[in-house]
Amino acid sequence: MTLIENQQDKQRSGLTADQFRAIEGAQLGDINDVDINDVINKYIYNQIAEQPSYVEQYKRYLKQRWDVYDIDFTQDYKDWHENMTEAERSSFLAIASGFHHGERQVEVELPVFMLGGSEDQKLFISSQIEDEARHTVFFDRFYHEAIGLEGDLMDVLDQSFEWVGETFIGPFGLLAYQADALLKNPDDLKLRVQYATNYMLWIEGVLAVSVMQITLRYARQRKVLPGYYAGFTLTARDEARHVQAGLRFLTEALEEDPTLIRDVHDTLRTVLLMSSTSSQYVAYEPIGWTREDVQAMFITQLVRKMDLIGLELPPDLAGMVQNISADNAIGG
Ligand SMILES: [Fe+2]
Ligand SMILES: [Fe+2]
Repeated sequence: MTLIENQQDKQRSGLTADQFRAIEGAQLGDINDVDINDVINKYIYNQIAEQPSYVEQYKRYLKQRWDVYDIDFTQDYKDWHENMTEAERSSFLAIASGFHHGERQVEVELPVFMLGGSEDQKLFISSQIEDEARHTVFFDRFYHEAIGLEGDLMDVLDQSFEWVGETFIGPFGLLAYQADALLKNPDDLKLRVQYATNYMLWIEGVLAVSVMQITLRYARQRKVLPGYYAGFTLTARDEARHVQAGLRFLTEALEEDPTLIRDVHDTLRTVLLMSSTSSQYVAYEPIGWTREDVQAMFITQLVRKMDLIGLELPPDLAGMVQNISADNAIGG
């Protein structure tokens, strides 16, 4: 790569060509060298600038697929039981459990989206379904082998449900409703736009990429949970593909029918209203975050994603954005 190309590349993504290649090609053995901040705030945007097709994203999936059974949680078990404090453990559980359940729910709600759309999109969604299933197994293994829960997949989900906050109900309850509506008419573009606004733009593009950074920065700086760091950083790279393809879908749908912009805005109004209040409090401080930091991350991620699909926030939505509750410790 020439110096000019390298500079262009850096301007586009905020990463040098070498940094980009290190993330793009990282395998399980070297993923612990990757900084999660680079994946979430830079790498994810590199590919969006190039607007990769669904087939290109499918090819990247094949190269980046990792084996969830290769992760070693031996040190994680030691860290969890010997090196982390009680306050750190309960803060971690309050944040990770909304992901444990989120991954499982998106896994089961996504097949309906594959019933419609173009053949290329179906190809990509098939890979995303497999990703989400693998993310579900990742959390199942972590809760089993690091924390020490017992039983089968559903037994472990049942046990971790006690740590899932009420903020889970808003976006994921809406997603279940949207999936039911889509099942009756999978090619209805309006329903698909509403579904993708909630799933790919809000749950993945705003909540997941923000919340991932919280536990991952903690694990990296505190030097604990290396198995969790490896698997969840690879999960973040998978999520980059999901968000990129989701934003591509929304961009194309809005070009095809600009009246659907209203559906993006209305869906965001719904999720923002539901996400602006909570009767529960998530303690982020024990793992090194403030509520202000978390809220600022949500706002930044939403504004950046809207920008990428070429939409501004209308004044009422811009006001609602300021009220996103920091307690939305969920993702998928
Ligand atoms: Fe996922
Ligand atoms: Fe995802």
